[in-house]
Amino acid sequence: MANQGAKRVPVAVFISGTGTNMAALLYASRQHSSAFEIVLVASNKSDAKGLELAALEGIETFAHSHKGHSREEQDAAMEQAAREAGAEAIILAGYMRILSDGFVERWQGRILNIHPSLLPKYKGLDTHQRAIEAGDGHGGASVHVVTPELDAGEVIAQVKVAIAPDDTPDTLAMRVRIAEHQLFPRAVNDYLSRGNDPDFLLEKVRNLALALAETHERESHGSPGFRVGGDKSGKFFAYFADRHHGSDHIALLVRTSGMDELLNLVENQPDIYFKPAFYGASGWVGIILNRSGLDWGHVEEWLTRSWRSVAPKRLTKLLDAADMF
Ligand code: GAR
Repeated sequence: MANQGAKRVPVAVFISGTGTNMAALLYASRQHSSAFEIVLVASNKSDAKGLELAALEGIETFAHSHKGHSREEQDAAMEQAAREAGAEAIILAGYMRILSDGFVERWQGRILNIHPSLLPKYKGLDTHQRAIEAGDGHGGASVHVVTPELDAGEVIAQVKVAIAPDDTPDTLAMRVRIAEHQLFPRAVNDYLSRGNDPDFLLEKVRNLALALAETHERESHGSPGFRVGGDKSGKFFAYFADRHHGSDHIALLVRTSGMDELLNLVENQPDIYFKPAFYGASGWVGIILNRSGLDWGHVEEWLTRSWRSVAPKRLTKLLDAADMF
């Protein structure tokens, strides 16, 4: 997906070996349409080949041996380097260390890994050998979001590679590697551009809004809107605004308690809130969705609050009662 002039997401790439996937990411990141730029290549091995290439290409490098360090200590050193370099996401490209839960939680949704199998098949090691021994017709590679459970996060892209009758793990690995070099940069690009993709953002908002009781979607002045209550008497509690009236924001509009609160939010947190054209006059606030660090839990809280402010009493009664305790 083209990046359309948006800021490139700064990423750190962690490697343990030759770093050919890192190289594929690096050269892809130098295409004008790239959604990301590599600000650091870091390794748990100071002699990792990929570090040399990264340095040659003018990328900052960092090495910290895991030997003699606990998992947490190793992760803390890598994390500090990534933060100091300004990384907002971490890409594991043949990084052969399991990350501590704390690290993964701190970077939730912002770590991607490439794994040389068609997940969920063959998590862990010796993937090519296991695919050949099982008599599979294809091996392949998967790019997935990293979660605390090994190789189990959401798979965002996959490529199949046919297995030849005389393949050994090495010959298969070589072809899988070529496929990985095509797959990985594109998957990283797509994933990191999601935050600027109105279709992706609308779908997330829609799922959250329509999960609230007795809601439906209705267009209003060309924008998707969300209402609570009946078809005729329902009231809008949210609108999705894609760069309206010359604004750069892709935003969710929700009801505040009134002008005082609205102006307070906009003044104190201008990175998050703005006063939208027209709706602002009636106390609606815009929450900017196309920004880094967006917290969907926060969006959900606003949707619920706005829904509650106009939902029929019989729907909010229980919530109101719970508030009294
Ligand atoms: C790649 O094939 C990658 O899928 C694999 O290591 C190789 C690294 O090659 N990763 C894993 O096995 C992770 N469990 P590279 O250093 O040439 O990019």
